[in-house]
Amino acid sequence: MPRKKFAKPVARPPSSGEAPPAEPLKARPSPLVDTRIIYCGDNLDQLKKLPDACIDLIYIDPPFNSNRNYEVFWGETRERRSFEDRHASTQAYIEFMRPRCLELARVLKKTGSFYYHCDWHASHYVKVMLDQIFGEDSFVNEIVWQRTSAHNDPSQFGRVHDTIFFYARGEPHTWNQHYEDADERYFAAHDFEKDEEGRLFRKRDLTAPAHGDSGSGQYEWKGKTPPKGRMWSYTKQNMEQLEAEGRIVYTKTGMPRLKIYADALKGIPLQDVWVSPDLWLNAASKERLGYPTQKPLALLERIIKASSNPNDIILDAFCGCGTALVAAENLGRQWIGIDISPTACRVMAKRLRDVCHLREDENLWRAGRGFVVRDLPRTNFGRFRHLSLRTGPSSPWAASPIRPRSATRGLTAASIRSPRCPGKAARPWGNSPSWTCGTPSR
Ligand SMILES: C[S@@+](CC[C@H](N)C(=O)[O-])C[C@H]1O[C@@H](n2cnc3c(N)ncnc32)[C@H](O)[C@@H]1O
Repeated sequence: MPRKKFAKPVARPPSSGEAPPAEPLKARPSPLVDTRIIYCGDNLDQLKKLPDACIDLIYIDPPFNSNRNYEVFWGETRERRSFEDRHASTQAYIEFMRPRCLELARVLKKTGSFYYHCDWHASHYVKVMLDQIFGEDSFVNEIVWQRTSAHNDPSQFGRVHDTIFFYARGEPHTWNQHYEDADERYFAAHDFEKDEEGRLFRKRDLTAPAHGDSGSGQYEWKGKTPPKGRMWSYTKQNMEQLEAEGRIVYTKTGMPRLKIYADALKGIPLQDVWVSPDLWLNAASKERLGYPTQKPLALLERIIKASSNPNDIILDAFCGCGTALVAAENLGRQWIGIDISPTACRVMAKRLRDVCHLREDENLWRAGRGFVVRDLPRTNFGRFRHLSLRTGPSSPWAASPIRPRSATRGLTAASIRSPRCPGKAARPWGNSPSWTCGTPSR
């Protein structure tokens, strides 16, 4: 893996006429890297500016190789913006992503976590690439996120889920256990009974697969020993304590079981299948900005809460309209965002101002508040230059906003139009039958 030298933090340019303050950033969580920055540009170039092992959590939601054109109409003028997610082949897509993921692996801390959001178009190939980069042993979860309630896809099961691969570089990685409330389906599936006081409980096996130094779990308990290959889940001392508390019941054959009281349940630890309307971005949601492929804040908050702590540094290198940045800011984390599209950068800057009440201000940022946008292309007239940006050999994410800075103010979500089924040829594995005109999902 190439290692880029990065001896010093990125120098900040002086602001208009004012001398930079002598003291370092108040809220600077790392001496190596500046945070609360949006970098506009190709992440392959921007990532090279970051030092090794400086990021606690990376989430990316890159193009999915969906072979689609995303079109959106912004604001009252219904100005058209579009970007394409097309690659000559899945291999071309993977070769586009590979050097970027190598850079992302380089900047991730040893205790850090990496989440790659994708879908059926390329997920299996992405998994193989990530195993090669991070190592198979670093794979933690394949999260199935149901993004909508139903899809009427003809002649097939509705495609309603995305896949999020979770890798952690080492042990221990940052992990905060979160729980979901147990619903009636959980109680129905677990044969709850009532004890003599009327409290609901279920019985749990008191053995576990034998592992490590299993000596402390191999003893006789009331004439019983654990089955072959298993051990008692608790030491003898702890079993005695549970027995004294009345927490153990016995089966007809005399095997002990632990009573798990429903009223003492913290909830159900989050699993790797995320099916909850709370994690959907509905058409009428106030959160919706009209940015194609925008993800729900609740989804990002779940990931950030689980895999980072306050003031940790979160990086989203394909950050679109900045969902990960807003979630990170709301949760008291530091953040860095990168996007190749100047439009996206302006949209997320506005979102940070409107939703998080952060000011985009060089001086405030130097004082540890506010945020800055770097490398936004502008002409002498204060307009963005026309850019023809490509994410792959044949894939322009055509970000070409030629308009004054102020024009991004007051953007309202209008409509997202899918293509009139363009370019259905030239996919070696054939075109997906789910290609429909008029659906905003991928
Ligand atoms: C699927 S969108 C991300 C959406 C985002 N998660 C959100 O909730 O808004 C992918 C983004 O990646 C950006 N992108 C594509 N290629 C890029 C590159 N090489 N460098 C940086 N950003 C890129 C696009 O401009 C687009 O905004």
